Amino acid sequence: MKLRSVKGMNDILPVEARRFQRLENIFRQTVEAYGFEELRTPLVEELGLFQKSTGETSEVVQKQMFLLARERESLALRPEGTPSAARVYIGESQHAKEPITKWYYLGPMFRAEQPQRGRYRQFHQAGCELYGDAGPIADAEMISMLVLLAERLGLKGVQMSINTLGGAEARALYRQELVRFFEPKRSSLSEHACARLGDNPLRILDSKDPRDQEAAEGAPVLLDCLTPEDREHWRGLLHSLDALGVPYVVDPRLVRGLDYYTRTCFELTATSGEIGSQNAILGGGRYDDLLAGLGGQKTPAIGFAMGLERVLLALPDEIPERPPLVFLAPMGDAATQRCLLLAEALRRAGHRTELDGRGGSLKSMLRRANGMAARVCLVLGDTELSSGRIQCKDLARHEQLDLGLDEVLGRLSELLASDAGPTGRSAATEGRAE
Ligand code: HAM
Repeated sequence: MKLRSVKGMNDILPVEARRFQRLENIFRQTVEAYGFEELRTPLVEELGLFQKSTGETSEVVQKQMFLLARERESLALRPEGTPSAARVYIGESQHAKEPITKWYYLGPMFRAEQPQRGRYRQFHQAGCELYGDAGPIADAEMISMLVLLAERLGLKGVQMSINTLGGAEARALYRQELVRFFEPKRSSLSEHACARLGDNPLRILDSKDPRDQEAAEGAPVLLDCLTPEDREHWRGLLHSLDALGVPYVVDPRLVRGLDYYTRTCFELTATSGEIGSQNAILGGGRYDDLLAGLGGQKTPAIGFAMGLERVLLALPDEIPERPPLVFLAPMGDAATQRCLLLAEALRRAGHRTELDGRGGSLKSMLRRANGMAARVCLVLGDTELSSGRIQCKDLARHEQLDLGLDEVLGRLSELLASDAGPTGRSAATEGRAE
């Protein structure tokens, strides 16, 4: 049997994991400044939760669920985070605890899609959900936060597209209008679009099939079906975005693939790096009817999720820097014992430290220290040990210092806090093959 990972599910090796960590840190810092707090939920939920929320007519539920069948239980791997967070919000009677709740989450999601670049069967999302605020200011703040997040992540050439899907009333009216528009063109639509005509005609608008795209030309626009309240919300959003100076594009074709959206929806796309055709970095919107639909109190809500793999594809392939490394090269048993203690003291003082306790030659230890891009290598042999000294090779400056064993901790902290020296030993010189 050949050992390999499951199709569309990737291992993330340490160097790549550092790129993920960088995104996660920037994400946490940014959303916490806006008052979001972390929520962690299980990877597995009852299938019914996704059927009722993500939606029976969504492609995700129809075709992409990973099911876990157990006796008398129908479970599924989560394809997205919004349903789980809504379940917790309702289960915890969160509405009774505070008027507005802001949660964020990070973690793997699972969709049985046909894998391609930027589209995987296990991928990672970082998302936020805000409950209890129906006004357009909440929408504007979230969109503004996302533009800031994209900027901090270093994404270039991004576009924030926004649209309104109206409330239930406007959408019912719009659905009728669309059916009236597409029905005479049924024969020129794809089979997929014909099926959508029955359950969710809005999805025909974002079909990638050229037949559907041609048929959709001149289709009625939802903006014309909005109720006065929907219209006021939409105007309020645009006004606040303009006041904040947030760049956006109104895209009347943006409908999103999940069933629960109402009013505002948005998507951030990128064109940089190796992103390719799966260019939606993040997407989200308002879902004011979902919580009541799941049996909770009627609670307005808005949220988004960002695909971490797609962000990484859109960014340059840089490895984030790590703190400088101290490498300990002892020669002989007594020196190894002394270095064992010194290494622990260095780590407790916060220095990334590697002890080579294999008992090899100095040459092989120095080769390893260089391979790991160590900033300094401390060499301790019998002679140094008996005189209470240690050799400190500054591998960045190509200098050697003779230090007292009792002063090494303090001197190293000073040296490591100074710049990396003329050769600039940092992530840039650090090999991926380490
Ligand atoms: P979504 O648009 O289905 O929305 O997914 C959000 C993001 O996850 C996408 O923009 C994309 O970056 C990433 N993504 C989705 N599927 C894949 C995949 N197969 N491989 C790689 N990346 C993928 C949601 O999931 C909603 N829960 C967002 C939301 C939160 N709406 C309200 N609150």
